[in-house]
Amino acid sequence: MTKEKIIYQGAEAKICKSKYMDFDVVKKRRIKKSYRIREIDNRLIFYRTKEESKLMTEARKFGVSVPIIFDVDTKNGIITMEFLVGKRIKDILNDLSEKERIRICKMIGESIAKLHNNNIIHGDITTSNMIYQDDRIHFIDFGLGEKNGEIEAKGVDLHVLMEAIESTHSRYSNCFDYVLEGYKNKLKNDGNLVIKKIAEIVKRGRYR
Ligand SMILES: Nc1ncnc2c1ncn2[C@@H]1O[C@H](COP(=O)(O)OP(=O)(O)O)[C@@H](O)[C@H]1O
Ligand SMILES: [Mg+2]
Repeated sequence: MTKEKIIYQGAEAKICKSKYMDFDVVKKRRIKKSYRIREIDNRLIFYRTKEESKLMTEARKFGVSVPIIFDVDTKNGIITMEFLVGKRIKDILNDLSEKERIRICKMIGESIAKLHNNNIIHGDITTSNMIYQDDRIHFIDFGLGEKNGEIEAKGVDLHVLMEAIESTHSRYSNCFDYVLEGYKNKLKNDGNLVIKKIAEIVKRGRYR
């Protein structure tokens, strides 16, 4: 029996490090909620596991780095995927040189544009959900993602990152400008429409 070690315990999922054949993998297991009716809970877990793995597979197809998926068990809500040995962007961004930070932020924006060009909404773009490895930004945690082509959805997706950067990397909040620069360079449609939408979302939040 392979030894499993819990490396992360969230409200929605438990992440274990394990082995699959000879590979180091993580198993992301969705947690059952006792307060939900069992039938509904099972369906939710089934649906979210399926969606998350589907979006990851699509993202890869369009050139965005994501962990390799080894197995999807929708019944038990487990995705078995490549263990990324790299570091979370959250843990390294503040310590990079200015030049390197700008480069990484542009790369992040370019990857998000590749997702959005194909109407993939990540749903939780934070610097905890990006792992830097082999000079690539790997995106994880598509659990709140969806397919959606609307400007609004893309704006909201980026707005989440804007807020994450403001709170986690407040000293370097200009990072988001570089993310947008990379984004605009790669976006097939007019990136300014999405950027206008972000401003609108910010305003909406203020007057709520
Ligand atoms: N493929 C992976 N390789 C390495 N670490 C991972 C991997 N997937 C998740 N993790 C670690 O587990 C944490 C939580 O995983 P995540 O998918 O974001 O779950 P949640 O939906 O609970 O936020 C991540 O922030 C990361 O540190
Ligand atoms: Mg996460």
